[in-house]
Amino acid sequence: MEISLKVNGKDYTADVEPRLLLLDFLREHLGLTGTKSDGGSTAGCCTVLLNGISVKSSYILAVQADGSEIVTIEGLSQNGQLNPLQTAFWEMGAVQNGYSTPGLIMALTDLLNRNPHPSESEIRAWLDGVLSRDTGYQNVICAVEMVTSG
Ligand code: FES
Repeated sequence: MEISLKVNGKDYTADVEPRLLLLDFLREHLGLTGTKSDGGSTAGCCTVLLNGISVKSSYILAVQADGSEIVTIEGLSQNGQLNPLQTAFWEMGAVQNGYSTPGLIMALTDLLNRNPHPSESEIRAWLDGVLSRDTGYQNVICAVEMVTSG
């Protein structure tokens, strides 16, 4: 099936198998390997923005994203510069194991777009619904607070 969508500001048209996951389309067809697979768990390493809403790209077929606008972790940086949230993750040591990091940042991007000044409990509640708790989240909270206080 032919699909057309915008990814990180670029238009793409592709002929894909109906059962191809959006995650695999992004990684294998577009080479956007910043979006991770967590090997079948529900941890959300594959989170991207679809029309501005954070979604798990392994839960969505590429054909379901036809006509939509996707932003992946690669789409957050501009001219090779990390955005403020990415910079805060780096500076606060919130990068965890590298697999979780892109999904965390994409999910938090959605949260900050909805609520530019979330409380700690709101941040924790948001992450509880999106990603698993494989490590402590204190540095992630500190990174978000660094962005929202600046
Ligand atoms: S790869 Fe596990 S939730 Fe997407």
